[in-house]
Amino acid sequence: MTAAGAAGRSPWLLLAVLGPALAAGLVGALTSGLRTALLAALAAGAVGAVLALLARGERVRVLEAAASDAAAKDRATQAERDAAAYEERVLAAALEGIADGVWITDASGAVVRHNAALRRLLDAGQEVVGKRPLFLVRKGELHEAVLRACAAGTSSVVEVVMEGPRPRVLEVQVAPLGGGLPGSAAVFRDVTELKRLERVRQDFVANVSHELRTPIAAILGYAETLQSGALSDAVHGPQMVDIIHRQSERLSELVSDLLELSRLDAKERPLTVGAVAVSEVVARAAEAVEPRATAKHISITHRVAPGLAAQADAKALEQVLVNLLDNAVKYTPEGGAVELTARQEAMRVELSVRDTGLGIEAKHLPRLFERFYRADRGRSREMGGTGLGLSIVRHLVSAMGGDVRVQSQLGLGSTFTVTLSAA
Ligand SMILES: Nc1ncnc2c1ncn2[C@@H]1O[C@H](COP(=O)(O)OP(=O)(O)O)[C@@H](O)[C@H]1O
Ligand SMILES: [Mg+2]
Repeated sequence: MTAAGAAGRSPWLLLAVLGPALAAGLVGALTSGLRTALLAALAAGAVGAVLALLARGERVRVLEAAASDAAAKDRATQAERDAAAYEERVLAAALEGIADGVWITDASGAVVRHNAALRRLLDAGQEVVGKRPLFLVRKGELHEAVLRACAAGTSSVVEVVMEGPRPRVLEVQVAPLGGGLPGSAAVFRDVTELKRLERVRQDFVANVSHELRTPIAAILGYAETLQSGALSDAVHGPQMVDIIHRQSERLSELVSDLLELSRLDAKERPLTVGAVAVSEVVARAAEAVEPRATAKHISITHRVAPGLAAQADAKALEQVLVNLLDNAVKYTPEGGAVELTARQEAMRVELSVRDTGLGIEAKHLPRLFERFYRADRGRSREMGGTGLGLSIVRHLVSAMGGDVRVQSQLGLGSTFTVTLSAA
């Protein structure tokens, strides 16, 4: 059916089919008879249909507009929801990303949210959400800090010592939530290692002072005795000068060992680790301690597999071997033997310094490489030791990517073994 045919029979149908605007245009183009018929039809009753059409269009438009408005609103609320979900995810990720434990409480002090680190730090087996501080950590001080933050908006720092199988010290910062939100937040930091290091540092300072005081006191004492007359004593005078000289040497060794350790700590002396011909380094180290060995009638032998190369810093490796050989000579009685061997074991190079000396009691072995640790304090001092040699050895060896260990039997001798990567 053509448009004109349709218009001929049912003009308002045309309207319905083509839409009012187009129909009106068509009506204008129609023959006058048809136009009359159409107008008559419109007048006779199609008005309702046209109005209905128009109304439907309007309603559709309104609906469409409303729909698009709703969709826009929907889209807006969706965007808000997305943003909120994103924020929530960022918050959760940030909370989980923090190595410290975090909990957030409501205004009554009950936990409403926390991260996984908190569970770990508190060894919390059960649910944490909904619990009060005092239930989770049995420390009144922390509980009060949380209540203070909630009620009075006070921030505080509380130290909590956790007992049990994994004892540790936690530093807890408690603060009100702020931003008009009720409740509090607490950040739990594990400061166990920090506390240990602090103690090590304090012990170290105390040790250094003590070690320095002994030779200084001797030097002062003998110098004063000489000043007050002993200088003219032909027998005791020279003896005192000898002591002053020996103690000064000791002082100087102590200070140079301390400086060496501090340089190593500060990584001021970067090591250049590369392929090092082991036999050359071994020969130089043996040569350095030879005079002391000869003086005690101790033989030093060294055996190195030909062509052996290790990943090392030549100077550092020499320093390590001199320290170990020096100890071997120092703690071996006259007439003993010291042997240095180096060989390859798979991808590693093993350097061993073995002596036939005093040996070390098993109880001392785990702590032997610590600063100022001595198996026999009196003997070490008497021998002019600083107690720092092995800690320097351990430092240097680990800086070269290797490790050092000791085997010893009291009265039979000791073996110190350094392992490095083969080159
Ligand atoms: N070869 C060894 N035989 C016996 N004891 C040793 C040997 N090497 C080290 N020790 C013990 O380990 C302690 C620490 O050694 P080190 O750090 O070199 O300090 P020191 O200045 O006393 O030699 C020594 O005081 C000594 O008791
Ligand atoms: Mg030593």
